[in-house]
Amino acid sequence: SPLFVLNGPNLNALGKREPGIYGGHTLADIEALCTAEGEKLGFAVDFRQSNHEGDLVDWIHEAGDTAVGIAINAGAYTHTSIALHDAIRAIKIPVVELHLSNVHAREEFRHKSMIAPAVKGVICGFGAHSYILALHALSSITK
Ligand code: DQA
Repeated sequence: SPLFVLNGPNLNALGKREPGIYGGHTLADIEALCTAEGEKLGFAVDFRQSNHEGDLVDWIHEAGDTAVGIAINAGAYTHTSIALHDAIRAIKIPVVELHLSNVHAREEFRHKSMIAPAVKGVICGFGAHSYILALHALSSITK
């Protein structure tokens, strides 16, 4: 079964979006990193991005039925979405929250995550490497 890597709003703009904060990688670069790391760890990676909250809710439900775990960078929905919190609570597979930036070193409104209480753990601040760390975390708890 696959690992889902889910990406929320504005992450399609990585590479050109505030590179000083988020780094120069495009989302396609990060997908390639995740696919390669997944192969090493023995997982097929299903990598997706949407700017729409409901897509992310649907994909969390889908993963709950078909995947072994989820790594999610929910973008700004991290800080606002009770719907994502509830969707994560509704499934049994482990979910790891991740962020490129160290959200705790940034604006106050990024310090609170609505999904953190529903996930297994949180990784932030390591740029594109946060994705690799999240895959390793999932690998260590799903095997
Ligand atoms: C982010 C941090 C969020 O606060 C922000 O809204 C994003 C990206 C990150 O990866 O650092 O869109 O999730």
